[in-house]
Amino acid sequence: MIDKNEWQALKDHQQCIAAIHMQQWFDENPDRFRHFSIQTENILFDYSKNRITAETIQLLCQLARALNLKEKIDSLFAGKLLNSTEKKPALHTALRNQKNHPVYVHGKDVMPDVNSVLEKMRTLVEKIHQQKWLGHTGKPIRDIINIGIGGSYLGSRMATHALSDFAKSNLRCHFISNIDSAHLHEVLNQIDPERALFIISSKSFTTLETMTNAKTIRLWLQQKLNSTQLSSHFLAVTANAKKAEEFGIPQEQIFPMWEWVGGRYSVWSAVGLPLAILIGMENFSEFLAGAHAMDNHFLHADFENNMPVIMALLGIWYINFFDAKSHAIIPYTHHLNYFQEHLQQADMESNGKNISHHGNEVNYATGPIIWGEQGCNGQHAFHQLLHQGKHLVPVDFILVAKSAKTFGPHHEILVASGLSQAQALLQGKSYQSAFGELIAEGFSTDDAAFLASHKTIPGNRPSNTLFVNEMTPYNLGSLLALYEHKIFVQGAIWNINSFDQWGVELGKQLLPKILNNLKNSENSSTENPSISQDGSTQGLIEHFKKIRDISCEK
Ligand code: F6P
Repeated sequence: MIDKNEWQALKDHQQCIAAIHMQQWFDENPDRFRHFSIQTENILFDYSKNRITAETIQLLCQLARALNLKEKIDSLFAGKLLNSTEKKPALHTALRNQKNHPVYVHGKDVMPDVNSVLEKMRTLVEKIHQQKWLGHTGKPIRDIINIGIGGSYLGSRMATHALSDFAKSNLRCHFISNIDSAHLHEVLNQIDPERALFIISSKSFTTLETMTNAKTIRLWLQQKLNSTQLSSHFLAVTANAKKAEEFGIPQEQIFPMWEWVGGRYSVWSAVGLPLAILIGMENFSEFLAGAHAMDNHFLHADFENNMPVIMALLGIWYINFFDAKSHAIIPYTHHLNYFQEHLQQADMESNGKNISHHGNEVNYATGPIIWGEQGCNGQHAFHQLLHQGKHLVPVDFILVAKSAKTFGPHHEILVASGLSQAQALLQGKSYQSAFGELIAEGFSTDDAAFLASHKTIPGNRPSNTLFVNEMTPYNLGSLLALYEHKIFVQGAIWNINSFDQWGVELGKQLLPKILNNLKNSENSSTENPSISQDGSTQGLIEHFKKIRDISCEK
């Protein structure tokens, strides 16, 4: 546990209220919804369906204050070296700093650089929209293909899908992230090579999947267009301009990103170029503005009325005091179909840590498993577990009030579905109610008694509901920034570094030896005793080779 009186107070409080059913609090206080919701200009956050009382919120905010959260929030925006192991700031907020006030990194105001990249993006976007950016054979660009993975993919993938209603009609976005050739074939079969613009997006410009894909695609294009002079078909977004130039990208086609922005927080930078091209710079600026509005709310609202802070503290409440292991994100809008995928990296790569800033193993739970699926699909997949499983899984339902395009009753059915799922998690169904229904359906008393236990639903399962006014660039920006700040607050409470990712290094280190093992033909377990693998890995390598080397006679 965190050695604070406020933490102990929360443990004691949890003991006091854990057995109370939330429905009781709604019955006692008709005003509960108003007491436990926060509204900004574009998002309503209803957190009344949580296992909390006013005292709970008070104790959680006391914990936040005892852990100097406000000072940590100010440090984030001020560019302090919060990424303590890499000695870097985490200044994704500077990328959307619409007020343009100076933000200093190592004594230098970074805003001129941020603005010059935005201008460079604007110039490119306008050229493409005016069909002045031509491919090698003189045709205007139509297919934008982002080659990148992780933070160099998930954010722009999510946002281009979410804001597809704002897309310029003649442009199409594609994403190649995985090294699996099947993924490459799937995309390359959809595009016109003469009208393709490939964006190699990689902060390091060394990521194996991305660089292998880029080299393969360059070869593919050379064969398709029968030329090696194809620079007009490639851009780079990277913090490693040297590597990009070595790849053959002209300097003027390299869009810089910076070491002071983490990959999973970089969609606001030139990593968001696919989005900017698809929806135009005015809409991209709106996306930034929405995030900036949430930044201001986060910076200035007192904790009790601070949406990211309360969302974060509620997560702490379940993870550290109810032992919840995961958190479900269930957007009742097809636009956010890739939102939980993006949050998986943003949250789990940030807070999936076991060591504190001071280098000691923490003795309390940290980042949850983030998962989910768009509603109504999840209802017909995993909601059974949410309603009757043994796990406590807090849920964020995300709904959109206004739908730009809807057929008949579809939108109302979608919204009603989300609201009814949240209500079912809250209310459940008692044994008596299930029994009465079965009797009314004509079941015998014995049958009804047997079935009723199976049809009883415990309820008292917490959820938040976020109601976004409508899916616009501005509102998506606010929503994404809300979650970024929630993740930051949780990391700050847990005293962990939310901005490094040392855990992903080992897999990268082990790969070359296994790859080499796979590539060489002889049976490596004897001829190459130097290649020592554990028995499982060795056995699997040999199985792979045996099956691979069987001629494809079938
Ligand atoms: O998963 C590890 C990671 O470094 C992520 O943090 C990052 O978003 C991704 O790989 C891609 O890295 P790059 O942008 O350098 O290719």
